[in-house]
Amino acid sequence: MTTSLRAPRHAMVVWTDEHALGLDELDAQHRLLFDLTNDLWHHLVRRSARTEVLATLTALERYALSHFSAEETFMRVTCYPHIDAHTAEHAEFIERVSREKTAVMQGHALGFDLLSYLKNWLTEHILRADKDFAHLARACHPELALPADTAGAPGFWRRLRARW
Ligand SMILES: [Fe+2]
Ligand SMILES: [Fe+2]
Repeated sequence: MTTSLRAPRHAMVVWTDEHALGLDELDAQHRLLFDLTNDLWHHLVRRSARTEVLATLTALERYALSHFSAEETFMRVTCYPHIDAHTAEHAEFIERVSREKTAVMQGHALGFDLLSYLKNWLTEHILRADKDFAHLARACHPELALPADTAGAPGFWRRLRARW
């Protein structure tokens, strides 16, 4: 079983093969989102200083924005039919993280409810919504099943990267 590269022993969320979309770059980004969620979990357990909590919340917000932008480009390029509903889910996630960041800046402690939200949102969204676009894209573009670094692979990923 493959897990996140730096999943701590007592992680809040653990990335496993079950979460894999079979799209290497997006899978790597999902692992990093899990790692950042686990970092926040450890801040909560250790009652870290507000500056540390804010730094991780900011990193999560920025990384999620960049990941969502990559996925939305991917969905546009592959003509995914449910892109609007999917994008709305991304916006809801960013809004929730941003709201927590504001609360922490105003002096509130990091809430367990945010950790619970992150765990539930990430796992549910990946297993349902992300898997849906990955499944449809691979059905329409069989070349996507090739690993990104396959020698002589079609230029699909190269072209896609140029747009990200
Ligand atoms: Fe995703
Ligand atoms: Fe997504």
